[in-house]
Amino acid sequence: MSKKLIVGNWKMNPASLDEAKRLSRRIKSVASKLQRTETVVCPPFPFIGQTKPKIPVKNFDIGAQSASIFADTGAHTGEVSANMLRDIGVKYVIVGHSEQRQNGDTDEIVSKRLSNVLTQGLIAILCVGEKARDEAGEYMNELKRQIEQSLNNIPAKMAGNIIIAYEPVWAIGAKEAMLPEQIYETSLFVKKIFADVFGPEYGHRVRVLYGGSVNFRNAFEIMTVGKVDGLLVGRESVNSPGFVELLKAVDKIS
Ligand code: PGA
Repeated sequence: MSKKLIVGNWKMNPASLDEAKRLSRRIKSVASKLQRTETVVCPPFPFIGQTKPKIPVKNFDIGAQSASIFADTGAHTGEVSANMLRDIGVKYVIVGHSEQRQNGDTDEIVSKRLSNVLTQGLIAILCVGEKARDEAGEYMNELKRQIEQSLNNIPAKMAGNIIIAYEPVWAIGAKEAMLPEQIYETSLFVKKIFADVFGPEYGHRVRVLYGGSVNFRNAFEIMTVGKVDGLLVGRESVNSPGFVELLKAVDKIS
């Protein structure tokens, strides 16, 4: 049985380096004592260096929230390459988050970021999710298109380093998460598309996370009824007491 994966997406939080250090210290100390859970936190770029443990911490890793579409060093003002992230010890990179898609990331751009991350041997957390649900099921085509086009040009030998984070956009930053039964159904659909792209053996193995208004109260049910491999957590990941409770709740799942 593989470990559950809980990823904290800090977004553009917290406001200061001091707070970031305090938050990561607390999370590290709890994460290292868990038995069945791996924890990854993804701070903003400037905080990565100082939140990363000096010596490896059991079941704890650092991720980044994006990586450049450019692979090589050069005249790309404001960009951070996957190679640089790997070089400072980052293990995971979130790609295609809906907030980046909203700011202009197309499937083609997402595919370039993904390719650069995987080429560096990093683990990509590819975010996909429909903007809204409709009775006719058009949202399934949207999801299918996002997955297929993001995976375009990615060789099957790299598929093992891709994790899919299913995040319905309407459930991000919302009051309530998606119903666990719906999460289960949709995660099966996501695995099916993944299998259609890379082959059935990859469809069985791919890890699917759920994201969107996860908190310490609903995490256990989302994991057990939704039967996902982990969670991508926004707001609750920068709320130290809530995130610690969430980690402990997930670790109880055998
Ligand atoms: P939320 O964000 O948990 O605050 O809804 C999730 C995300 O955007 O990854």
